[in-house]
Amino acid sequence: MTTEYTRKCFAIIAHPDAGKTTLTEKLLLFGGAIQQAGEVKARGERRRARSDWMKVEQERGISVASSVMTFEYEKTKFNLLDTPGHEDFSEDTYRVLTAVDSAVMVLDGAKGIETQTKKLFEVCRLRNIPILTFINKLDRESLDTFLLLDDIEKTLALDVTPASWPIGSGKEFMGCYDLINDQLILMNKNDKSHINSTIEVIKGIDDPKIDKLIPSYLAEKLREDIMMVKELCPAFDVQSYLDGSLTPVFFGSAMNNFGVKEVLDGLLKFAPTPRPAPTTTREVSPEEDKVSGFIFKIQANMDPKHRDRIAFMRICSGHFKRGMKLLQVRSGKDIKVPTPVMFMAQDRELAEDAFAGDIIGIPNHGQLRIGDTLSEGEKFSFTGIPTFAPELLKSVRATDPLKSKHLGNALQQIAEEGGASIFKPVIGSEWIVGVVGTLQFDVMADRIKNEFNIPVIFEQTQYYTARWVSCDDSAVMKKFMETNQGSIAEDHDSEVVFLARNAWHLSKIQEDFPKLVLNKTREQTFNK
Ligand code: G4P
Repeated sequence: MTTEYTRKCFAIIAHPDAGKTTLTEKLLLFGGAIQQAGEVKARGERRRARSDWMKVEQERGISVASSVMTFEYEKTKFNLLDTPGHEDFSEDTYRVLTAVDSAVMVLDGAKGIETQTKKLFEVCRLRNIPILTFINKLDRESLDTFLLLDDIEKTLALDVTPASWPIGSGKEFMGCYDLINDQLILMNKNDKSHINSTIEVIKGIDDPKIDKLIPSYLAEKLREDIMMVKELCPAFDVQSYLDGSLTPVFFGSAMNNFGVKEVLDGLLKFAPTPRPAPTTTREVSPEEDKVSGFIFKIQANMDPKHRDRIAFMRICSGHFKRGMKLLQVRSGKDIKVPTPVMFMAQDRELAEDAFAGDIIGIPNHGQLRIGDTLSEGEKFSFTGIPTFAPELLKSVRATDPLKSKHLGNALQQIAEEGGASIFKPVIGSEWIVGVVGTLQFDVMADRIKNEFNIPVIFEQTQYYTARWVSCDDSAVMKKFMETNQGSIAEDHDSEVVFLARNAWHLSKIQEDFPKLVLNKTREQTFNK
C-alpha cells in the first residue's frame, strides 16, 4: 500500500455489549478485509484457545488484548484500533486513543450513554477527537430517539445532529431517513446479503413515494419528527465535527448490517486524515519527509510460539521503509527495524512501507517502551500520551517460595508492557504491585500463572500510595534516602519510589524535604 491512499485512523468506543465487536466485524466485511460475518469472533476465539492466559477474557466476557485492523474502502486506507472494553483496562484504552485521529461511539439504543462510554468520551474530549455516533440495536425496543439525542447532548455536553432518523423501532424497525442525502434507506429483512438495505431516492420528506413504502402512521410520525429535528438540532457542520464539538448520529443495527455502510461513508467523507502531532519542541506535520512516531502500546506473547514482544508505533510523519534505522530519543540509541509488521484484519504481514496515520508493530526484546518517540535523528518527544498513577497497591508472592526468583522476571515483563507498576522495597524481599483497577490484579495473577507457571497471591500491604522521587539537590536526595529506607523502593527501571504508609506520612515527607519532587507517575519524572 502506498501514499496514494488517504489514511484514516480511528477507534470504536463503547460500553461493553453495545455492539463494538459486531460493528467492527461489519466494517471489515464492507471493507473486504474479511469474507464472512463471524470471522472476527471466530479468529478471536481461536486465538484465545491458543493462548491460555486469555482464558480470563473468556470467563469474564471481556476483551483484554487489543489490536489493529486495516481495511480499504473507496481508495482510503482505514486503520481501526481496537480498544479493550472493561473499565479496569482503561489504561490501555486511553493510550490507544492517543494514536487515533477520530472515533466512532457506539451506543445501545435501549440504554443510551453508559458509564464506560462517558469515560472514554472524556478521553477523546481531552484531545478534541471528532466523534461519529452510531446508535445500535434499533431492531430491538429502543429509547425514544429525541431522548437518546438529548441524553448525548446533556450527559456529554456535546452538540448533536442526527445524520439519519430511524423509522419505527423493535419489530417495527423499517430503516432510516437519511438526512444528509434526503433519501430513504430501508432494511431488507429477508436479504442476508452484504448490504442489507435498499436506497429509495425521494424528493424530500413530503414526497408521496414515502407513503407507498412505509405504513401511513410511520410516515406521519417521520414527517413530524423531521420537522422537529430541523427546528431543534443544529444543521450538520463538518468543521464543528472536526473540532470535536458536534457529533453526527447514525442509527442502525450492526447485527443486521443495517446502517453500517452509512457509518463507513460518514467516516470516508468527514473523518480527518492524520493531524499534526505536538511534541516537546514543535508540532510535527504528517506531510514532513522525515519519519517520526511514538509507541502507544506494548504487547508480549502475541504469538505464544515466539516469546516476542510487539511495540505498536503510530507513524506521525514521513515515509517509513522496512529496514530503516530510527533514533530512540529516550536512550539516544539507534534502533534498526528489519521486520516491522502490519495488521490486515487480524493477520500480520511484513510492512515494507508505512506513512503518517499507519500503525506498525515493531518486534523487540524490551528496548521499546510505551511513550517512546522514534525519529530520523531529531530530538523531540511526542506529548499527550496519558499516564496513570497506581491507585491500588498490594504485595504479591509466589505460593511456592522456590519460584520467588522467577516472579521478579514475570513482574518485570508486565511492568514493561505498561500492565501495572511494580516496586521492590530496598529492605525485605516482597514485591509491591500498583494498579489502576482491581481487576488488573486478577488478570496479572492469571497471566503469571499461565505464562510463567508461577501461582501467586496478592495480599494487603502496609503501603497506601507510591510516588516517584526526584530532586535537583543531591544532598537532599541522599538525606531523604538515608532517613527513610523502610519506605523506599525501586521500580522496574531502578527509579526511586517513595511508598507512603498513609496520607499523613506523604505530607510529612513533603514538609520535611520541600525540595523533593514527588510524582504520581513515572513519566512525570522522565519528562521533567
Ligand atoms: P461489544 O463488543 O460492544 O461488547 O458487543 P458485541 O458486538 O459483542 O455485541 C453484544 C451483543 O449484542 C451480542 O449478543 C451481539 O450479537 C448483540 N448485538 C450486536 N449488534 C446488535 C444489533 O444490531 N441488534 C441486536 N438485537 N443485537 C445486537 P450476544 O448474545 O452477547 O452474543 P452472540 O451470541 O450474538 O454473539
